[in-house]
Amino acid sequence: MGDSSDTGAPPAEVSLEEVVALCKRRGFVFPSSEIYGGVGSTYDYGHYGVLLKNNVKNEWWRAMIQERDDIVALDSAIIQHPKVWEASGHLAGFTDPLVDCRTCKLRFRADKLEDSACGRKPSKHPGEHSECDLTEPRQFNLMFETHVGPVKDDASIAYLRPETAQGIFINFKNVLSFARRKPPFGIAQIGKSFRNEITTGHSIFRTREFEQMEMEFFVPPGEAERWHEYWMAERMRWYTDLGIRAERLRLRAHGPEELSHYSSATSDIEYLFPMGWSELEGIANRGDFDLTQHAKHSGEKLEYFDQETGEAYVPHVVEPAAGVDRAMLTFIVDGYDTDEIEGRRRTVLRLHPRIAPVKVAVLPLVSRDGLPERAREIYEELRELMVAEYDEGGSIGRRYRRQDEIGTPWGVTVDGQTMEDGTVTLRDRDTLAQDRVPASELGELLLAKLAEPWTSPKLRRE
Ligand code: GAP
Repeated sequence: MGDSSDTGAPPAEVSLEEVVALCKRRGFVFPSSEIYGGVGSTYDYGHYGVLLKNNVKNEWWRAMIQERDDIVALDSAIIQHPKVWEASGHLAGFTDPLVDCRTCKLRFRADKLEDSACGRKPSKHPGEHSECDLTEPRQFNLMFETHVGPVKDDASIAYLRPETAQGIFINFKNVLSFARRKPPFGIAQIGKSFRNEITTGHSIFRTREFEQMEMEFFVPPGEAERWHEYWMAERMRWYTDLGIRAERLRLRAHGPEELSHYSSATSDIEYLFPMGWSELEGIANRGDFDLTQHAKHSGEKLEYFDQETGEAYVPHVVEPAAGVDRAMLTFIVDGYDTDEIEGRRRTVLRLHPRIAPVKVAVLPLVSRDGLPERAREIYEELRELMVAEYDEGGSIGRRYRRQDEIGTPWGVTVDGQTMEDGTVTLRDRDTLAQDRVPASELGELLLAKLAEPWTSPKLRRE
């Protein structure tokens, strides 16, 4: 994991602890099984976390499927034939080097000792501590093993998939015949993956159970490099179009020693997280590795027959592979901001309105004089169009602060004047402008605003 100090990049604006505290306070993310003391590195998503996560996934589907006609969708099984992992190379090669400390009895990744803390006090990195007694590294496979059916023997061993990609390769033939595609074309899927990570931490950044958004783009062999360049640019644009600041994103090409067993070239999109520049998404040129391997192990022909040239070939694959949870963390970190309103400190999540869990909150100024009833009517109209929330508890200032912390871009206040002339106050989370608009026009107005481009107001300050 890189350090931002050597790159001239802007410093971290928020600590991970502040982000984690907000996520817990507002019900985005909870450590899993907390009432039992927690379980290593798994998380549960609460109400706003689920809404945010769905928005991230919907935006990815929109970019992959709705806005193009060369990609189809897939949803493959988590448990696949064990031979899949033999063919893919995961059984032999999906390993991390592991060392044990004989003194503190902890395990560390041999290549990430600087990111780990030794169990002895005062805490240092393992190996730096005089009392640390590290074993020689040995390879540890990251796949979770399970058994299919009631008999637990070697014949029933199966694995929880460590990437969604293989489900796509093993369906290549199905998609070719049923979707009648010709390279270049892609197959996209979103789903859970599992890795028995040794080094976890940094909240939802690296966990053992996580969701991936992966797309395998099948191209004629001579076009792979060009498509690799294309997908790097497209994926960078996806993040910046959704409001992530470009100067906190960078592309970093893997060195030869870092490349995965299947890849001839990979570049990571990295984000400047509070702990430094770290991988957000990988974009790999997988060549014909996977289709060739599965053809060999399954005995099936996995190639494309080009009617025009009369030749068959194994397409090469370019793969943008993103993490849903990591993208969520990025949106929250990039959006986290504080300012002062009338002498009071405010925490605000400056999320792109399309990513924000709730689009509009409807608030009666006071809980009497028919205002709650009118506000509720407006809320019920708006929720037909977008995720809306009705809130009548507590002072208006406190209710605004709550909405600011969950990133709601617009607030509608119903007051005495509403009852007279039918107008409401529309408050903007970012500019704090409060405009009087007819309640009858709210739906159309907010839909138009949702469709507008959005840039982070933090950019204008920098
Ligand atoms: N099919 C290629 C592949 O899986 P990867 O770089 O190992 O490549 C792709 O994973 C993305 O999945 C990463 O960039 C990251 O966003 C996410 N990811 C991988 N391991 C993760 C973990 N343990 N926790 C959370 N997200 C993870």
